[in-house]
Amino acid sequence: MPVNLRGRSVLSLKDFTPEEIRYLLNLSKDLKEKKRAGVRGELLERKNICLIFEKTSTRTRCAFEVAAFDEGANVTFLTNSQMGKKESIEDTARVLGRYYDGIEFRGFEQNTVEELAKYAGVPVWNGLTDMYHPTQILADFLTIMEHVNKPLNKVKFVYAGDARNNMGNSLMIGAAKMGMHFVALAPKSLWPSEELVDAMKAVAKETGAVLEFSEDIEAVDGADVIYTDVWVSMGEEHLFEERIKMLKPYQVNMDMVKKTNNPDVIFMHCLPAFHDLKTEVGIQIQAEHGIPEMEVTDEVFRSKHSVVFDEAENRMHTIKAIMVATIGNL
Ligand code: CP
Ligand code: NVA
Repeated sequence: MPVNLRGRSVLSLKDFTPEEIRYLLNLSKDLKEKKRAGVRGELLERKNICLIFEKTSTRTRCAFEVAAFDEGANVTFLTNSQMGKKESIEDTARVLGRYYDGIEFRGFEQNTVEELAKYAGVPVWNGLTDMYHPTQILADFLTIMEHVNKPLNKVKFVYAGDARNNMGNSLMIGAAKMGMHFVALAPKSLWPSEELVDAMKAVAKETGAVLEFSEDIEAVDGADVIYTDVWVSMGEEHLFEERIKMLKPYQVNMDMVKKTNNPDVIFMHCLPAFHDLKTEVGIQIQAEHGIPEMEVTDEVFRSKHSVVFDEAENRMHTIKAIMVATIGNL
């Protein structure tokens, strides 16, 4: 069946079929090759795009902007609007939908991005909420396709750390859809919600995915990918002490990498990462908790296993694919 994503919002990969996800990954690959070949893009010519950010960002904002510019679109970066303060989300969506062809939203509540999508009348793309980070997953899977010499449905993917945050949730959804062997390696209290797990187990039945939940580090055995994310996500900064205690045993270090028994295992992280003392937060954590690295050691981060900057580059190609597929002049 041909895939047609025109006019669709991207709020979570839960709403997409494996075929549609595969289509976006293949389109990303084509757009990456096109850029490398220096071909001028016109697929978003005359489109206007609004980028709403309640939370901070480096990759997502820049990836949306560069992707838009590459294909001829214009962007507005909106970080101090009336939305939610003096004007409802519904009214804001109705206004922005009159100006723009597509709207990206990064912020706290999943409900906000859903409300925007309900009323804007144009595609809305989730650039991260507390619950989900769907555009990141496409970049991650494209990176796996480039670095792991196996089809996605043969890949063993271990996510170590806070498995119930936006990344843990979204990676589990993506893995279930693509038929992967997904392991959430985390203390039980940080596993994804029962509701989401049950929904994804139903998806896994269809796709052949295996979803595993473990507190035991030995579960990394045979992994093709070890993935981690920050232990404390944006908006949870009061939880550092508790999370450091809970997640220290799940730090991605060379011992964990060796336990995979796979010399070709790749290390992934959506970034930003706390792997050294070159950040304000890193220095503060070292002063207060006495640890120089958190979710990943500097050794692993800089090792031959690490593909984190390829992953960061792929944010741009995959976000471009989402915009082209949903609002582009195809
Ligand atoms: N990975 C990611 O979303 O990065 P930013 O927070 O810099 O956008
Ligand atoms: N879980 C992280 C992801 C950052 C890209 C956060 O929400 O802060």
